[in-house]
Amino acid sequence: MPYLILSCSLNPESRSRVLARDAAARIEDAGGETEFVDLREHPLPLCDGGMTTLDANAQSLARKIVESDGVLIACPVYNFNVSSSVKNLIELTGNVWHDKVVAIVCATGGDASYMAHMGIANSLMLDFRCVIVPRFVHANETEVTPERIVSAETKRRMDEVVTLFLRIARALSPVSENAGPSA
Ligand SMILES: Cc1cc2nc3c(=O)[nH]c(=O)nc-3n(C[C@H](O)[C@H](O)[C@H](O)COP(=O)(O)O)c2cc1C
Repeated sequence: MPYLILSCSLNPESRSRVLARDAAARIEDAGGETEFVDLREHPLPLCDGGMTTLDANAQSLARKIVESDGVLIACPVYNFNVSSSVKNLIELTGNVWHDKVVAIVCATGGDASYMAHMGIANSLMLDFRCVIVPRFVHANETEVTPERIVSAETKRRMDEVVTLFLRIARALSPVSENAGPSA
């Protein structure tokens, strides 16, 4: 199954989308299959705790999450948290996150919000027993532009996140790629 890359910024000039594209390229270079989802192309209703979960785009994204070997979330930091687009997606899709390996990379305005992802990391762990990759990227405006990653340190951290994401996801895969031939 593919690794799902969720680009969660709705900004056409997004910098976290550049991180998402970089992650996809790194996963493919490492022999992994990816599916890239740009949330701008999948408009979602705001979760109302009721019928919105039946929205066609929400259901299609839920299927992509279920049918993935791991999910990498690339998102903006807003108000010392991840953007509401991420939280809304999780609220709309709920249980499909169960047991998923999840990596998180963020674009930020500065360096003060380096714990912004912890709220969703905690809720994904507690609600859905997700395995959160314990490496993160927070790239500010001097480190990633809407065109490319500028900073060597951000590239190094992207490599670290993706390498660990693949290691954990492959180790936990039901049919481990490392498994020998069956008897
Ligand atoms: C409404 C809003 C709130 C923001 N709040 C923060 C913040 O709390 N901390 C921070 O580091 N950057 C903050 N920023 C800056 C964004 O994180 C930055 O613009 C980032 O590039 C957004 O991601 P994107 O380019 O992928 O859309 C905020 C930006 C906006 C528009």
